[in-house]
Amino acid sequence: MKDIMTAPFLTEMRKTTANMYRLGWDERNGGNISYLLDEAEVKEYLDTKAVIRRIPTGFDAAPLAGKYFIVTGTGKYFKNVYDDPETNLGVLRIAEDGTTAELLWGYKDGGRFTSEFPAHMMSHIARLKKDPANRVVMHCHPTNLLAMNYVHELDEAKFTHTLWEMCTECIVVFPDGVGVLPWMLCGTNEIGVATAKKMEEFRVVVWALHGVYGAGKTMDETFGLIETVEKAAQIFMLTSHLPRLNTIKDEDMVKLAELFKVDYRKDFLNLK
Ligand code: 13P
Ligand code: ZN
Repeated sequence: MKDIMTAPFLTEMRKTTANMYRLGWDERNGGNISYLLDEAEVKEYLDTKAVIRRIPTGFDAAPLAGKYFIVTGTGKYFKNVYDDPETNLGVLRIAEDGTTAELLWGYKDGGRFTSEFPAHMMSHIARLKKDPANRVVMHCHPTNLLAMNYVHELDEAKFTHTLWEMCTECIVVFPDGVGVLPWMLCGTNEIGVATAKKMEEFRVVVWALHGVYGAGKTMDETFGLIETVEKAAQIFMLTSHLPRLNTIKDEDMVKLAELFKVDYRKDFLNLK
């Protein structure tokens, strides 16, 4: 059995959480990540018959039965993941009945998975139906995107359009746009169901006045998605109080989308 500290998926989790903390997206225990792992890869590092603990999920995760995830722990600080992954992360398998998670490694201090586990697992279920290669769900509290929530209408089409206008490549990176949920109580099955419903349509979902969810095939892709949305929000926050002299026109966005052959939300452009 290889040493799990050398597992590429663990290294990715450690580096990504450190990066997100460094960027100010994950103050204190803010944010959480779940990463769907390949069973054969997990077996190189862990005895998958050795279950440390069984943790109730509190919802029906049956569509993910038998699947393995590495998930950040609840109340844990991204700041600390790099130096102490075994306390701050856990590797688990969804049990056959879908109501239990079988812990195989981690949460060393008796901890458990993120309080946003329902939103993560339900989002995985929704995204896997759209794209079987989806593996990562990421939640965080990016500063500028959060600030923008207070001063911009929370209409999905208008919010997406403003972000697309802020950097030339936005429409190429998130052509499907940004879904927006109203303020809801976090850590509940209800916000999980609502997030997953949005994830049927969008890979980025804003939780109004709270943060954002992103989903993707790889850690890099998912991180890059949130990074691009946050960069656009930063440009908005740097310019929205100043006279606007120039903008990226809708017709230019169409040219970009066509050049990069992305299927974009045409209804989010104000085409005549
Ligand atoms: P957890 O510490 O339970 O992961 O919660 C952090 C968070 O961002 C809640 O939305
Ligand atoms: Zn949060």
